[in-house]
Amino acid sequence: MAKSINGFSKLPKTEKIDWLVENFCEGSPEAEKVLKQYWNADAKLQQLHDEFIENTISNFYLPLGLAPNFLINEEYLTLPMVIEESSVVAAASKAAKFWSERGGFKARVISTEKIGQVHFKYSGDRIELEKTIEQLKPKMLEAAKPITQNMEKRGGGILSIDLVDKTKELKEYFQLFVTFDTRDSMGANFINSCLEKFAEVLETNLPKEQLTVIMSILSNYVPECLVYAEVSCIVDDLGGDSHLSGEEFAEKFVQAVNIAEVEPYRAVTHNKGVMNGIDAVVLATGNDFRAVEAGVHAFASKDGRYTSLTHAEIKNGIFRFWIEIPLALGTVGGLTSLHPLVKLALDILQRPNALELMKITAVAGLAQNFAALRSLITTGIQQGHMKMHLMNILNQHQATKEEKKKMVDFFTHHTITHSSVIEQLEKLRANEL
Ligand code: HMG
Repeated sequence: MAKSINGFSKLPKTEKIDWLVENFCEGSPEAEKVLKQYWNADAKLQQLHDEFIENTISNFYLPLGLAPNFLINEEYLTLPMVIEESSVVAAASKAAKFWSERGGFKARVISTEKIGQVHFKYSGDRIELEKTIEQLKPKMLEAAKPITQNMEKRGGGILSIDLVDKTKELKEYFQLFVTFDTRDSMGANFINSCLEKFAEVLETNLPKEQLTVIMSILSNYVPECLVYAEVSCIVDDLGGDSHLSGEEFAEKFVQAVNIAEVEPYRAVTHNKGVMNGIDAVVLATGNDFRAVEAGVHAFASKDGRYTSLTHAEIKNGIFRFWIEIPLALGTVGGLTSLHPLVKLALDILQRPNALELMKITAVAGLAQNFAALRSLITTGIQQGHMKMHLMNILNQHQATKEEKKKMVDFFTHHTITHSSVIEQLEKLRANEL
């Protein structure tokens, strides 16, 4: 049977589902039921979600959780986190509580510059091109004026336009390398619109036979949009929570970070742990996690080898653990004013501006990494995972508080598997435990 279709995008949602079920789900009424089960009862709200993307047929839920007790620059915040993986929110919460008793997180924004490029081919004389671009800069800024004037009122706009000669790497390849300050917006639309205006100016002012504009697009690599966050305390304050003394803990922790600094296989997993926290806040606040991911991992490889995003040291009896990470985030534009849960997430965060959100998000990454490393160097990661797994199973089976307590006691000394938990719960309920 032919499974291709013309005009799919024009079909109403129900017909899209009919086509899907008939062609790819063997006509299963169950498939249709599952899809429709996730529709919102409020038709207006559903329509809003339908219109975020194209060819929408249903909603795909991810849990929104809360990690309280984040003391960041002397202010307590509760972080909204959207993530599917169990133990991440618990780990963030635990790390937040731990550090709130040790002075909290300190964070600052280092820089906020965004980048865009007009990539073009030019076959004429390079010196001539340099001169022409210099002459064209006022024209470019003028052409972009309708786009930039509001941004300029907010204190942002275009910061610099430079010609970059890339002909050594690729024949006739030049670029306009443009930097921007996009204030509280992530800035993708603003940047791309400005770049397209610049490209038009090039096309109207350079000889047609010598110039081909290839593309105009922002870069998600933003090494000059950097944020720093740290925690620190005296080494002795790290003890007490595990079988390790403060000193043993600090040394093992620093060693674990050092391993991620020199060993790319470990660095990738280490940074995955950082991104558990970063992505969860990025998603909750309606930001573009693919852009953040791409930029962060490029940054982690900036010196030619993939390395840790976090660092740690012990100096004069003080343990310090920090992160420096590029984060191009927005608190206006995009989903931030459209998605009701994103709006609420930003309210929960006390309506941060983009700089504040950068700090909060970096802290989430640092906290997450701290929690994972603490587990890894003490109990091992599985103990916490299994505890969460046990709770998830018990919750699914509506275990009471009393039952939960008994099951936790039992599984402190027994291996947790789905079937062993069910078996013990059944025994408990049959008074056999
Ligand atoms: P615990 O010490 O057994 O927890 O830790 P607890 O029951 O004693 O509770 C202490 C606090 O932890 C609680 O305080 C909460 O803040 C939090 P309270 O609320 O009672 O005042 N907490 C929870 N919060 C919400 N729901 C819960 C919950 N349980 C505890 N159910 C915990 C248990 C899982 C927190 C700990 O073992 C832990 O931090 N584990 C690390 C888990 C982790 O990192 N998960 C991320 C996924 S693993 C991964 O993908 C990355 C990795 O590969 C990265 C890497 O290799 O570096 C590991």
